Amino acid sequence: MSEARVKVGVLISGRGSNMKALIEAAGAADYPAQIVAVVCNKPGAEGLNIASDLGVFAVAIDHGLFAEREGHERAMDAVLRDAGVQVIAMAGFMRVLTPWFIEAWAGRMINIHPSLLPLYPGLNTHARAIDAGDAEAGCTVHEVTLGVDEGPVLGQARVPVLAGDDAASLAARVLEAEHALYPAALAAFCERFRQ
Ligand code: GAR
Repeated sequence: MSEARVKVGVLISGRGSNMKALIEAAGAADYPAQIVAVVCNKPGAEGLNIASDLGVFAVAIDHGLFAEREGHERAMDAVLRDAGVQVIAMAGFMRVLTPWFIEAWAGRMINIHPSLLPLYPGLNTHARAIDAGDAEAGCTVHEVTLGVDEGPVLGQARVPVLAGDDAASLAARVLEAEHALYPAALAAFCERFRQ
């Protein structure tokens, strides 16, 4: 392809397995995006080492060092813009963003959430799906808008809830689906920004 690849920044808070799936997918020559920066709000998070080992610029910006949520976000924003980021992919970033950050990146930020939205926004999605007796669970990639876990859906993947599942076993099944869904959804989203 002759068009420029879209520069993506990934926000993480911990393990970074979805981030890893995105970096690995972007290793393919025909993937429409490249991962140019990983920003984590927790120093020492496992995902930072994974990104560095895969050759991606990765930085911790500790939210605990900032008195205000927006100050932390302004620091993240500066790093992302310095890296030339065009699109943000949130991948297990476990902080609610302020309207300032969401509006600064409006239409250019996506998230993966471990439920079939609009079911189960927020936390403890797998336990809630089991408690509700759902036959299916899954994950959603969506645009980030002002309402938490509410933006337009870009893609979903479904898995069965099996007899005997607990939150951990269901989470593991959903996570595998996340690792397939997110690279595909990010690629489709980035096609909007190619010149
Ligand atoms: C993933 O399951 C992701 O969907 C979820 O956190 C996990 C992060 O795992 N995100 C949320 O719950 C966001 N509200 P990872 O760090 O291994 O990608």
